[in-house]
Amino acid sequence: MIIEEGMVAVVTGGASGIGLGLAEALADRGVRIVVADIRADALEQAVSDIRARGVDAVGQATDVSDAGAVERMAITTMATFGRVDLVCNNAGLVSPGAPMWEQEASTWDRMIGVKLRGVINGVTAFAPYLVAQGSGHILNTASSGGLAPLPGRTPYAATMHAVVGLTETLDLELKAAGPALGATVLCPGLVDTPLGQNSAALGAITLPSGTAGSIGDLPGAMSARAVADAALIAVEAGRVHVAPGDGVLERARSRVEHLIADLEAAR
Ligand SMILES: NC(=O)c1ccc[n+]([C@@H]2O[C@H](COP(=O)([O-])OP(=O)(O)OC[C@H]3O[C@@H](n4cnc5c(N)ncnc54)[C@H](O)[C@@H]3O)[C@@H](O)[C@H]2O)c1
Repeated sequence: MIIEEGMVAVVTGGASGIGLGLAEALADRGVRIVVADIRADALEQAVSDIRARGVDAVGQATDVSDAGAVERMAITTMATFGRVDLVCNNAGLVSPGAPMWEQEASTWDRMIGVKLRGVINGVTAFAPYLVAQGSGHILNTASSGGLAPLPGRTPYAATMHAVVGLTETLDLELKAAGPALGATVLCPGLVDTPLGQNSAALGAITLPSGTAGSIGDLPGAMSARAVADAALIAVEAGRVHVAPGDGVLERARSRVEHLIADLEAAR
């Protein structure tokens, strides 16, 4: 899909980080935006930032794990703009670091609710409009942790692998419904965002005392805007996967090579 001025995009988790980067990159191309986020206070600032780029934007406080709330957000989008062209299911949290057998049941519920059901809810609410329109694209944010193992973060890795898998199938289903439809999954490595701080503020993790939990301090972290630009290039090229970041390609290749080696050895 070629992204054109006047189109309409929805960005969940759009008040911060990669979502805000996507909203800004789209606004710079003249795309009108619906920004959804669970943090209503941060949403207000994001909407005024996007409007300052000269495009129409609305904010809607939405918990993506709540199917009814996402459905209402889709209705608001259609009532406000009359169409939707790009749906970015991006909202997310990080899970506490621990081996799988020490992860709390509440962590699994939260990660499945936000990172998996959140994407499912976005697709369920918006895909019918795209199909009826005969054009549009869905961009789901997963992670490099969806392309390769991520020791210490099974709830994160499991939901991200699920988002990669569902997007690959969704893309085929959308293309079967219409040649101008498709889906892309964004699987970045480290991105300089306040994911740790926001996840702590939302009760998903506890930051170790004395640390700011800043991903930007880690070597190789990309800017949210660079990740957003890479994602939009992939959407326009019709690619199903995009995985910017140091070492991501190598980790994905290693996983696939191990997978193929195991399958061949078992023949
Ligand atoms: N930062 C990284 O290194 C990195 C790497 C790979 C993937 N990701 C993924 O990118 C996505 C965006 O994360 P980010 O790094 O920009 O973090 P971020 O914290 O800056 O942005 C995430 C946004 O999602 C919102 N959110 C959280 N739960 C929500 C809910 N239930 N409903 C609606 N909004 C909710 C938060 O309020 C926040 O504004 C996440 O899914 C994350 O897992 C991040």
